[in-house]
Amino acid sequence: MILVYWLILVNLVAFILYGYDKSCAKKNARRIPERTLLLWAWLGGSLGAFLGMRIFHHKTLKPKFYVVPVLAVLEVIIIIFCLYQNYHLVTTEYEIDLGLTEDLTIVQVSDLHNQFFGSGESALLSRIEAASPDIIVVTGDIVDSTHTSYKIALDFIEGAVKIAPVYYVSGNHEGRLSGKKLDAFYAKMREMGVIFLDDTYVETSDYVLAGISDASLYSYGASGTYGAYGAFDDSKPVILLAHEPQYHDLYQNLGADLTLVGHYHGGQIIIPGAGGLISPEFEWFPELYEGEHTFGDTTMIISRGLGNSIVPVRINDYPELVVVKVK
Ligand SMILES: [Fe+2]
Repeated sequence: MILVYWLILVNLVAFILYGYDKSCAKKNARRIPERTLLLWAWLGGSLGAFLGMRIFHHKTLKPKFYVVPVLAVLEVIIIIFCLYQNYHLVTTEYEIDLGLTEDLTIVQVSDLHNQFFGSGESALLSRIEAASPDIIVVTGDIVDSTHTSYKIALDFIEGAVKIAPVYYVSGNHEGRLSGKKLDAFYAKMREMGVIFLDDTYVETSDYVLAGISDASLYSYGASGTYGAYGAFDDSKPVILLAHEPQYHDLYQNLGADLTLVGHYHGGQIIIPGAGGLISPEFEWFPELYEGEHTFGDTTMIISRGLGNSIVPVRINDYPELVVVKVK
């Protein structure tokens, strides 16, 4: 969103400056230096500058300004490219055999970061519906702490609970948003029917579905122990929800058969042959940036997630919906 606001601002400023300079020229008043007019085009305002040139018939014959339409075309190409990279949803399917009596289809939504996917999150919800899930699991960062929109997150929840039961564990961004607004958001989610699995679990006749809050992952990281977790019948397959992949030894020790996580956003930019570029912990080319990984008896699936946070651009790292068909 910050980039969008920036582009709107610089294009508006460029357009106004070209119009203002034209009026100054007519009145023989003090002019805006040409290098300033060109600078605003280079700063991302080339579309506004180009429109200003055409509408106000200003600088159109000056060779120095021939670069403006070229920049405007480049800007349009870059905007379309970025929109496609950040909003083109993909679904990744996995098949995991846990020996369940009945097949279970899980849709995992991770790291939404209140990303907009159409009015009422319609593009995302219709993709989820197409997967016919038995349950939907949300593995943290449903809202972003730097550009928070509880409304978009609630739009998603409102539609998701109509498709299948929704289970949720928190991410590091909800951890940063403690306070009345987050409490009200959580209360609304509960009211809509979301089942919170932060440091707790539910048990069916066939499997255990457990969750760990992101805060507990940090305390585990600090102390090396994990005590906030209830006891469950681990003779059944255990499906564990958490936010961060790097705690896989904990998930393994807890007896998880399948763990679903997110957090790494696919490394933001996926370079063919080299993998995801950077982790949220600023580690270059992290090993655990997406996909299926095995640690002893535990299978861990890492979603690339759907939205962005501080780094606003994904490249070759399309927003991902994960569908796990568990047998
Ligand atoms: Fe995230």
